[in-house]
Amino acid sequence: MQKTLKSHGTWIGKWTFVLAATGSAVGLGNIWGFPYKAGTEGGAAFVLIYLLCIVVIGVPIMISEILIGRRSGNSPINAMKKSAVDSGASSWWQLVGWTGIIAGVFILSFYSVIAGICLNYIFISASPNELLSASEQFGQVTSSPENLIFWHTIFMVLTLLIVSAGIEDGIGRMVKILMPLLGFLLIFMVIYGMINGAFLKALSFLFTPDFSNVGTDTFLSAMGQAFFSMSLGMGSIMAYGAYMPKEQEIVSTSFSVGSLDTLVAILAGLAIFPIIFAFNLEPGSGPGLVFVSLLSAFNQMEFGQLIGPIFFILLSIAALSSSISILEPGVAYLAEEGFLSRKQSAITISALCWVIGIGTATGFNIFSAVDSSGETINPFLNLVEMISVQYLQPFGGMMIAIFVGWFMSESLIKNEIKTINPLLYKLWRFFIKFVAPLSVVSIFISQLT
Ligand code: PHE
Repeated sequence: MQKTLKSHGTWIGKWTFVLAATGSAVGLGNIWGFPYKAGTEGGAAFVLIYLLCIVVIGVPIMISEILIGRRSGNSPINAMKKSAVDSGASSWWQLVGWTGIIAGVFILSFYSVIAGICLNYIFISASPNELLSASEQFGQVTSSPENLIFWHTIFMVLTLLIVSAGIEDGIGRMVKILMPLLGFLLIFMVIYGMINGAFLKALSFLFTPDFSNVGTDTFLSAMGQAFFSMSLGMGSIMAYGAYMPKEQEIVSTSFSVGSLDTLVAILAGLAIFPIIFAFNLEPGSGPGLVFVSLLSAFNQMEFGQLIGPIFFILLSIAALSSSISILEPGVAYLAEEGFLSRKQSAITISALCWVIGIGTATGFNIFSAVDSSGETINPFLNLVEMISVQYLQPFGGMMIAIFVGWFMSESLIKNEIKTINPLLYKLWRFFIKFVAPLSVVSIFISQLT
């Protein structure tokens, strides 16, 4: 017999889900991660593979996650279990929910440190330092473990407070006004780059692919970035799907969220690279890229001390609307099982993330290393990112695709996506059965050999 789980409630109104899912998707992944990875992986070839991954793997999996989440109304672990049992498949499918929670803990651990740097930059961009260049300033910010841990703590507490407040009060509300505002500021930065930066050079860097340097690493990194950016393969979108009203259309919603997410990443690239090239900065310099480039621009432009802080406030909020969704699957599970209250669950998991985050904070300074090309790197950040973003997220996504494609009963699926056009349905089935899992597997295998 199935036991009764505590219920979570539903989001009111059609827009709340779209906003919350977009809030989850749009974050540091788009504005910090995408440009810096495009930079280290050599530009346009990476961008092209990334876009391909969004279309052939990302959107089909997003549809699957939402439908599993919504039909059960539970946290990913129980949602997977219910869908499997109701389809006559093994309840072991719930393990996909568990790997997602592990991925989430690792992701949030470093996400919070980077978001903490954003918080710190609200103040740094407000008072420009005449003596230090933007890259020296990034060096100064990251050289102090105490400083990084301080801001990491603040960000984690903010995340914790919102998640404890629960879905209706906490999550839906703030996304509405602030996300469009961030989009507006990004467009402003793109225009600034068009006028003052090396815009054409940036365009060719981002859109003229050179496949001569593309290795299996580039595929792995672009695929991981696609999963990361769309919040897939670890339960965030599935957990939010549980709160989606029954009458809402899943397929078109997934397309909207995917397009918005991609648009923001491309805009971020178009805002950042013109500045990089105009200031002769190194595009492959790693996680500091967005901070160094934008600070250089804010320091030079008129009203930069005003626009800079506004930008970093909005970016921090975008990060917050993502971090709460990273925490949600685990918290929802502990709370619905009745092991802990929602608040206690949130405290427990975020404490764990906080502790692991110390590794990323100290990897910038005490435990930094130098790679083969002489660049200083953060080995801990690289490691947790690799485990969670490049392996666990695609792995989780692949299992979800295999489950929906091969094990979940079609009548249950059709119940959730009733209004879909039959041709589109066939296409989606084909992608979810074959294209998505095989793409992930072949990228994994090519990486191993
Ligand atoms: N998609 C978020 C971003 O781009 C990060 C995220 C990853 C959120 C995984 C939820 C799950 O910043």
